[in-house]
Amino acid sequence: MPKNFAAWLPEKFERLKVGEASYPTPGAGEIVVRNRAIAINPVDWLKQHTGDMMLAWIKYPAVLGTDVAGDVVEVGAKVTRFRPGDRLVAHALGLTKSNTRPAEGAFQLYTVIQERMAAPIPSSMDYASASVLPLGVSTAASALFQRDYLGLQAPRLQPADTGETVLIWGGSSSVGSNAIQLAVAAGHRVITTASPRNFGYVSQLGAHQVFDYNSRTVRRDIKQALKGATFAGALALGAKSAAACIEIAASSKGKRFVAFGTYPSPFESLPDRLGPWEMITRVAPATLLFSMGLALKARLGGVKTKAVWGSSLKDNEVSGQIYGDFLPRALAANAYVAAPPARVVGDGLEAIQSALDLQKKGVSAEKLVVTL
Ligand SMILES: NC(=O)c1ccc[n+]([C@@H]2O[C@H](COP(=O)([O-])OP(=O)(O)OC[C@H]3O[C@@H](n4cnc5c(N)ncnc54)[C@H](OP(=O)(O)O)[C@@H]3O)[C@@H](O)[C@H]2O)c1
Repeated sequence: MPKNFAAWLPEKFERLKVGEASYPTPGAGEIVVRNRAIAINPVDWLKQHTGDMMLAWIKYPAVLGTDVAGDVVEVGAKVTRFRPGDRLVAHALGLTKSNTRPAEGAFQLYTVIQERMAAPIPSSMDYASASVLPLGVSTAASALFQRDYLGLQAPRLQPADTGETVLIWGGSSSVGSNAIQLAVAAGHRVITTASPRNFGYVSQLGAHQVFDYNSRTVRRDIKQALKGATFAGALALGAKSAAACIEIAASSKGKRFVAFGTYPSPFESLPDRLGPWEMITRVAPATLLFSMGLALKARLGGVKTKAVWGSSLKDNEVSGQIYGDFLPRALAANAYVAAPPARVVGDGLEAIQSALDLQKKGVSAEKLVVTL
């Protein structure tokens, strides 16, 4: 049996520590993957720095991480699409309440993944490039395609034009880069926001119009661009995106719906290591007031809102549409870009902590990756 090692989060607020982990056995519908590259997401360092304020169901020691690309080692019963030796990319579910075993975290050599959250990758695609996809794809797809969110038609290689427009606020982020491509593949026109240095980048991904989210006139400019259009909803990513998207949706014709990818909060970045007393006295009341203000704004504008949970597609038909159908075919046909591009910042489990620190400082239209 191979030896497994993980970058463990030993306790809340602690630094990752590399140590031995059990080599997992796949259950029904599960696959053991030898990870060759993992990508870093904001949730990884957010969990480390906020303790039990988020994902409180995670027990310590924990294995964080959601994005893996690697080789199939073993498959469990009922796995039909993969066999040992196949190369794949997958959304590891270890941060999800229903799947919190350390074996399902990404930051280790061998991870158990669910077949329905995995797609084969073509031989022309390297592991580092592929590893940028999972959480970005899953979160964007959960917002765009789940029936209780924007509910767009499933993406296709040659989509029929719906004539409708989607707003993706934060198009150069990892989630936004995938949302642009998926909305276009669902036959929609896409309006997005980014910093001017990334206008070319989001246009290449398929965005039809792009606006600077730091411009003082951005809300007015987008409302103007939407005049006469049929709106199909918005995905809000980034600080202050929720209020902007609600305001724009309220003035549009069509589906007045905003999916919150970034949880709206009055605190743009919370201080690290908040204790329970600060939570009760400072964070909770301000968050409540802020949420009530946003809810009122939405209600007055006739806008429905809902927060997205990036792994919720695992429980419905959207995981099959994306990981079983669209993504394998689109990657094989070179019709989907693994975006944002990977920046490999280290090799080996020891490099993951510094990659988290780097992601926390902020990235722009790139995804940090560690090879294993
Ligand atoms: N709900 C979920 O399940 C879930 C899952 C994944 C991520 N998220 C959240 O979704 C957001 C994006 O995550 P990510 O991994 O995609 O982020 P990321 O790639 O690390 O985000 C960096 C990008 O965000 C853009 N950005 C920063 N502030 C912005 C703002 N105020 N408005 C618009 N764009 C802004 C930057 O654009 P420029 O460089 O062009 O300025 C940059 O390209 C984060 O808040 C993350 O916590 C939620």
